[in-house]
Amino acid sequence: MTNILITRRVPQVGVRLLKEAGFEPDIIETDLPIARDELLKRVSAKSYQAILTTMSEKVDDEFLDVAGKDLKIVANFAVGYNNIDVEACKSRGVRVSNTPGVLSEATADQAFALLLAAARRVVEGHKLVESGTWEGWTPTQLLGRDLSGQTLGIIGMGRIGQEMAKRSRGFDMRLIYHNRSRDEEAEKNLGAVYKSLDELLAESDFISVHTPLNAETEHLLCYEQFKKMKKTAIIINTARGPIIHEKALVKALQEKWIWAAGLDVFEFEPKVTEELLTMPNVVLAPHLGSATEGTRDAMISLAATAIIKVLKGETPSNLVA
Ligand code: GLV
Repeated sequence: MTNILITRRVPQVGVRLLKEAGFEPDIIETDLPIARDELLKRVSAKSYQAILTTMSEKVDDEFLDVAGKDLKIVANFAVGYNNIDVEACKSRGVRVSNTPGVLSEATADQAFALLLAAARRVVEGHKLVESGTWEGWTPTQLLGRDLSGQTLGIIGMGRIGQEMAKRSRGFDMRLIYHNRSRDEEAEKNLGAVYKSLDELLAESDFISVHTPLNAETEHLLCYEQFKKMKKTAIIINTARGPIIHEKALVKALQEKWIWAAGLDVFEFEPKVTEELLTMPNVVLAPHLGSATEGTRDAMISLAATAIIKVLKGETPSNLVA
């Protein structure tokens, strides 16, 4: 008997794929994550060979110990896998998969939506009209920032960063980027110019974060970095909250070191630093980067297929370990 656990209610197509392959997965039928001790109980209830996780489940030594020695794969329903201790999985021979490629466009769309919303004060305008207090057009009401001719600085020129870069071409923006290593192919294809992080912070009118979260990128943007940005800069984060020191961001916005922010992710998700909730120059979204029907179906299909392949002794292409 092959046992598979899915830690959350997920798009049906993933469950269907597993059933068509002859498996009968156990599903924790909740939309939100269950408490850790409950989760560990569910994980230990049977000897699972595969567990399909979301980014909320911390897969660490404790989780893996509880799961037991039959576990062959942890398939993460996300491209980011900072919730998984990859080394701990490797040392136990547990494979790890993620969902690269299929969410790059959707996530870049969300980043660009936040960029436009922050630049053109879309939410402030919506609230004004909705309040019924709008008295009419004025020459200086809710003035925003132009995109055309301005510089977009992309931090992390991976798949999602490159999709963001592509979108900026249509808005006639100048493009600079910072990455762990230079990507000459992307430079040629997208007309992006490589910069040190400090140069990028100083030169960008818009900064969009697209790097994975790891020990090197946690708090990559802190007080010192916000100080280096233009007073008119707009920062967008659709990657992972802890890449930005949220307290430093609040200070930067309060003291007008920068102009605005568009945030899809938060340092202590789902908690949001209280000050951000009342700032007019902040656009907030509840981690919706990959939240389109087509993208989520593609993600769950990748995760389910990785499980099926590993359980059949094959090697899926989306393994990170
Ligand atoms: C979503 O945040 C993901 O990493 O896929």
